[in-house]
Amino acid sequence: MDPRYFGYEELQHTSKTAPPASLAGLGMMLPAPPLNVSQALGAALALGLERLEAQLLLLHALGRPAQERAWLLAHDTDPLPPAAQAAYGLGVQRRAAGEPLAYITGHQEFYGLDLAVDARVLVPRADTETLVDWAQEVLAATRQARVLDLGTGSGAVALALKATRPDLQVSAVDFSVEALAVAQANAQRLQLEVGFSQGSWLSGVQGRFHALVSNPPYIADQDHHLAALTHEPLQALASGHDGLDDIRTLVQQAPAHLLAGGWLLLEHGYDQAQAVRTLLTENGFSQAQSRRDLAGIERCSGGLVP
Ligand SMILES: C[S@@+](CC[C@H](N)C(=O)[O-])C[C@H]1O[C@@H](n2cnc3c(N)ncnc32)[C@H](O)[C@@H]1O
Repeated sequence: MDPRYFGYEELQHTSKTAPPASLAGLGMMLPAPPLNVSQALGAALALGLERLEAQLLLLHALGRPAQERAWLLAHDTDPLPPAAQAAYGLGVQRRAAGEPLAYITGHQEFYGLDLAVDARVLVPRADTETLVDWAQEVLAATRQARVLDLGTGSGAVALALKATRPDLQVSAVDFSVEALAVAQANAQRLQLEVGFSQGSWLSGVQGRFHALVSNPPYIADQDHHLAALTHEPLQALASGHDGLDDIRTLVQQAPAHLLAGGWLLLEHGYDQAQAVRTLLTENGFSQAQSRRDLAGIERCSGGLVP
């Protein structure tokens, strides 16, 4: 996969070595039990996993926090308890089959928040932090600003904004009832007050906002890269023949829901910045501009309503 495509490449690793179909758990996948920590990690590497992924899977199976990688080094000859070994084996097998690590551990860190994630939502990507940074920038001067996250998924963007700016009035929309359940549970666990509602983009939304932020689906629906993303919800990824259908809708709907001087900020694909800036300008936005992600790629574009 072209690593620039989604800015998501670290999550899309698929082992070159397919796991044997008959292996249902580590007890069968790896040499006879009990394995020690070092042997268990080595076996996962042999199946094509990265060392870091193997370490995180092992810590998860042992019920230890992800921060305790040093513990594994200090205990490399410790035998694994049978239940941990079985859970680890299953995790290694799922990862080797291409499932995102975050779905296996059930957690993804985003903007310093520990988010619960599963197959109902897109795994939040580090590059989406660019969108949060930019939203904070445009909202910096406005106390208690109203901001709406469109297509909230796990709640990542809305929750990051509320966590870092408790004065903001944050709401979030998603079309997927299942995604909203994940987002609401995250908000509750993190004790962050965000108003969630179900709907299609801005069609059911009342009122005007200081900023609208969105990481919408933006992959062309015939794009071959989708074949590597089969574990995540298709409605979170694909958007028409050129990947811009949802962005076109958002750009058209947004002016009626922004206060004067309010910003629409959109994440998009690595090669879509110019097209999104053009759409913004054509729809009456001024100051259309882009922001680069961690890899230096134009990843977000936005404009303001005069
Ligand atoms: C790329 S994911 C982004 C999720 C999250 N904001 C993030 O950055 O991790 C796009 C989200 O848009 C939602 N979505 C797709 N079509 C939608 C629509 N018509 N209206 C509202 N949300 C939609 C999907 O359910 C999905 O949660």
